[in-house]
Amino acid sequence: VKLDVAFTPAEIGGHAGDRTVVVIDVLRASSTIVEALVNGAHAVIPVESVEIAVARAHEIGRDQCILCGERDTQPIAGFQLGNSPLEFTAQRVAGKTLVMTTTNGTRTLAVGGTGSRCLVGSLLNAGAVAQMIRDDGDVLLLCAGREGRFALEDALCAGIIARRVLAGQRRADSQLNDAAMTAMLLARRFEKRLPEAILRTAAGRRLAELGRGEDVEYCVRADHHDRVPIVRERRVTL
Ligand code: MLT
Repeated sequence: VKLDVAFTPAEIGGHAGDRTVVVIDVLRASSTIVEALVNGAHAVIPVESVEIAVARAHEIGRDQCILCGERDTQPIAGFQLGNSPLEFTAQRVAGKTLVMTTTNGTRTLAVGGTGSRCLVGSLLNAGAVAQMIRDDGDVLLLCAGREGRFALEDALCAGIIARRVLAGQRRADSQLNDAAMTAMLLARRFEKRLPEAILRTAAGRRLAELGRGEDVEYCVRADHHDRVPIVRERRVTL
C-alpha cells in the first residue's frame, strides 16, 4: 500500500488526486458527522459559508433539514445545532438532512472530495476506516488541522488508522511519506493516553474553556462506532 498523510489541506494544494482520501477532523467536525449519520441523519451536506448553508437549506426545504456548525468553536446565530457530537441525538437528527458549515472540517471535505473515493474518519470510527481502506492501493489521510496549522489530535488519529492499516503487512510492501511515519510514531507514543494528550491540544483547551470538555472526552473514544461515512457529490452518507 502507498499511504500518505497530509497534516493540513494546504500540503496537497486543492487536489487530492486519484486515490482514496480519508478526511480527519477529530475536534469536532468529522466526529460529529459520524455521530449524526450513525444516529440516523439522512445525509450531511458540508458547505463553506453561513450564507451558502442558509441558501442550501431553503432549496432543500427548511422543515426537511437542520442547519448546524460553528464559527470560532461557537454555535452560529440562527442555526438549530452547533458542532458538538453530543447534540446530534437520534431524536433530533433521524431522517433529517444536515447542512453543516465549520471552520476547518467542511473546507477539508471539499478538498478531500476531489479524490477518487472520499471517506470521513475520526477516532470514533478509526478501526472501521482502517478495515475499509486496507485493500486500497493508494491512500491519503487528510488532516483538517486548525486554521491552516498542524493539529495533534488529527495527526494522532491519522497515525492510529495508518498503524492499523499496516498491521500484519510487511513494512517492505508499504510506501509511506514522512508525515505518515511521523503520525505513526506519535500514535505509538500516545495511543494509550489519548484523552490526556488531546485535552492538552489547542482545540482541546479551547473546548474545555468553553465548557465543552465532554465533547473532547466523547471524540477520543476510539472505535465507538463501526460505520464509515462516504462523500459523494458533496453529500456525506453512510
Ligand atoms: C472545525 O471544523 O473547524 C472544527 O470541527 C471546529 C469545532 O467545532 O470544534
